[in-house]
Amino acid sequence: MINYNTVKAVIFDLDGVLVDTAIYHFQAWHRLAEGLGYSFSIVDNEQLKGVSRIESLELILKWAGLEKSDHEKADLLAHKNQWYLALIEQLNPDHLLSGSLDLLKKLQDKGIKIALGSASKNAMGILEKTEIISYFDALIDGNVVQLSKPNPEVFLKGAETLGIEPAYCLVLEDAQAGIDAANAAGMQVIGVGQEAHLKGAGMVVPELGVLVDKF
Ligand code: BG6
Ligand code: MG
Repeated sequence: MINYNTVKAVIFDLDGVLVDTAIYHFQAWHRLAEGLGYSFSIVDNEQLKGVSRIESLELILKWAGLEKSDHEKADLLAHKNQWYLALIEQLNPDHLLSGSLDLLKKLQDKGIKIALGSASKNAMGILEKTEIISYFDALIDGNVVQLSKPNPEVFLKGAETLGIEPAYCLVLEDAQAGIDAANAAGMQVIGVGQEAHLKGAGMVVPELGVLVDKF
């Protein structure tokens, strides 16, 4: 159950919530894993959603039973990001997920604060390419957080930047790690996607458009 009456701020995850980029992360990790001789599945990928770049690599190496030096890891991460950036080069407002823009507009109209809470170091470029950066009152991304979701740091920083107590914040997330992070932050949380992958959310919706009338 979600109590919309107490919501003073909405903190959005980026990849897979606002923008259709989760598929490109999957494709780039898939390419990397194949190069390591590991057959990377969509089920594996679910565990990487919301997780930082380095922690994602550590997980893939663990699943593949491989050990790499710091130098080799840096090299693998650089390749993964190059492939990912090539895949999102043509990103534009058409890649916004259904309901994203309508919800951002509605929240802005209602005077509800809007923050980004993303693990991605590429977040700013994506917000610019999709032309939604101006909607945000606070931008917290992978360049300013130390601890990967499910640690609550990213969302707590968002609330602090907005000057709003966690209990008045609502998080929108497509990743289990993000749902867990929001709960650890003491915030309400709505999962975006399939219920089976999003345990512990106050509710799960298939897309953001469903939420526009709630505010
Ligand atoms: C999250 C994605 O938003 O950002 C993860 O769900 C990704 O898949 C993480 O690994 C880090 O992104 P980036 O762009 O810094 O590699
Ligand atoms: Mg996400």
